[in-house]
Amino acid sequence: MDLMEWNDRYKLGHVRIDGDHMKLVALVNQLTEAMLKRKGQQVCGKVLDELVNYFNTHFAMEEQLMATHHYAKTIEHKAEHAKFVEEILAFKAEFEAGSVILSISLLNFLREWLINHILISDKALVAGIKADSE
Ligand SMILES: [Fe+2]
Ligand SMILES: [Fe+2]
Repeated sequence: MDLMEWNDRYKLGHVRIDGDHMKLVALVNQLTEAMLKRKGQQVCGKVLDELVNYFNTHFAMEEQLMATHHYAKTIEHKAEHAKFVEEILAFKAEFEAGSVILSISLLNFLREWLINHILISDKALVAGIKADSE
């Protein structure tokens, strides 16, 4: 499985948001590597924890920006974040209980969700922030 490459088309033109997205891509890659190199449950669990924490921090930051800029699609965007957090936490709980292992399908889900969310929802958010700041 290839690592996820950062592509400049993911850059939305907002320094904090772009910086976080780059970090999230790097963490998804760390998780992929941990899985491919068959690192143990403990190492994989640590990276998974870090990833979940960083997603939470990042979502909180975006949601703060939505409030500051009275972003029109706040409800929909927050719902996307919440649904994703629910899914990843459910996986994390199963992983910690030892009933699932990291899999290609989870990593694909993470990658696809992140790219789609960046290119559609976060792109719209950055446009909204810029329109409000003008
Ligand atoms: Fe977002
Ligand atoms: Fe984002």
